[in-house]
Amino acid sequence: MTILLLGSGGREHAIAWKLRQSPTVTRLICAPGNPGMATLGQLLPVNPDDANGVVELWRQLAPDLVVIGPEAPLAAGVSDALRDAGAAVFGPSKAAARLEWDKSFSKNFMERHGIPSAASQSFAAEQIDAARNYVAAHPLPVVLKASGLAAGKGVVIAQTTEEALATLDQMLDGSAFGAAGETVVIEEFMQGEEASVFAITDGKHYGVLAPSQDHKRVGDGDTGPNTGGMGAYAPAPIVTPELMQSICQQIIEPTLRGMAAEGTPYIGCLYVGVMIHNGVARVVEFNSRFGDPETQVILPILTNDLATVMLAAANGTMEQVGELASEGAAACVVIASEGYPGSYPKGKEITGIEQAESREEGIVFHAGTAMRDAALVTNGGRVLGVTAINQQGNLADAVRHAYHAVEQISFDGAFYRSDIGHRAVGGGNRA
Ligand SMILES: Nc1ncnc2c1ncn2[C@@H]1O[C@H](COP(=O)(O)OP(=O)(O)OP(=O)(O)O)[C@@H](O)[C@H]1O
Ligand SMILES: [Mg+2]
Repeated sequence: MTILLLGSGGREHAIAWKLRQSPTVTRLICAPGNPGMATLGQLLPVNPDDANGVVELWRQLAPDLVVIGPEAPLAAGVSDALRDAGAAVFGPSKAAARLEWDKSFSKNFMERHGIPSAASQSFAAEQIDAARNYVAAHPLPVVLKASGLAAGKGVVIAQTTEEALATLDQMLDGSAFGAAGETVVIEEFMQGEEASVFAITDGKHYGVLAPSQDHKRVGDGDTGPNTGGMGAYAPAPIVTPELMQSICQQIIEPTLRGMAAEGTPYIGCLYVGVMIHNGVARVVEFNSRFGDPETQVILPILTNDLATVMLAAANGTMEQVGELASEGAAACVVIASEGYPGSYPKGKEITGIEQAESREEGIVFHAGTAMRDAALVTNGGRVLGVTAINQQGNLADAVRHAYHAVEQISFDGAFYRSDIGHRAVGGGNRA
């Protein structure tokens, strides 16, 4: 089959890499893709957020399946435009993706359907007085979230009431996150450890991928500001089989049933971010697509044929796929540009990728790279995600191999965390 894949990050590179292993995939087109994906498929410079442009591309190429990687095209209704045109699409409708792009909606949805999550209340700009009163009376710390999409930056955990009130003002007046902050979700702080669980679904039947954990903070020991993710590993041992079963029964199934019952069946990848405390999981957030960098560890250990699974989700035949299975363990270390998550330079020449990949089971996923003349250069904050797999499920070994591969790669200002996987295998993993 021919597949059109939308997106250009490390997540999309990992999806492309996995799709390419499928004997059923004869042609892969990436719009726009990235330099790392050029050996896997054809790259076309089409903006994935532009519904008309994407539908036009679909008409020209007539692919059997369109896979939407990032959240922005989903929130922009690209999946709806494609389905209206007759395409088979992996990715939820705009209405179903609202679980991600409108946190206020998402919280209300969870409340309607009895899905465990932090207690919360949402306020629009005109309710500022009520919001201030709610914040003032709230125990500390208190969590404030811009309701809309804010590229992973829209959440503030305020330790004092003064900080919470100042944050509230900046969110509601649009100065902090623009339109994304015009509605604010104020919620209870949850203690515990986070994990990510992904379900692939046709709206009715679903399968779950290996549970994973990512590392959001920029510095070792989980210090410094939040980032898009500095590394990940899977499976995450904190999500025991029993806990996974309860996440399926208490969270995933009522979510899929609720979405279907409300007339917005959810098709694609449902990302459930959970907080685990005393063996119980509550929802931190939903995302409407695969996570980055979790995808870079989850897909390499998936034993199913991803193209077949995605097509089944798009066509409503997930029941025939049966359970999804994973085998082994994987770790991914992100190499970032000096200054990230603040401002950083671009255009630094990258060397050593071939050496990194020639080592046992090293896979280098591109997240922020570009070609300049004939050289590969940095073009983003997170530049590369270096993944290693251990087939026997030895996570410590996967971590060690990932760091060996990372050490082959260099560019001006490159940095990475040295403790990826510490929660599962102990700190200081650099060999
Ligand atoms: N109620 C809460 N209690 C404790 N920590 C929380 C809570 N809500 C959010 N957080 C922390 O803030 C982070 C970001 O929150 P959330 O996942 O809702 O935002 P996001 O911007 O949608 O993130 P992403 O970029 O992963 O989609 C969480 O991963 C978690 O560490
Ligand atoms: Mg989110």
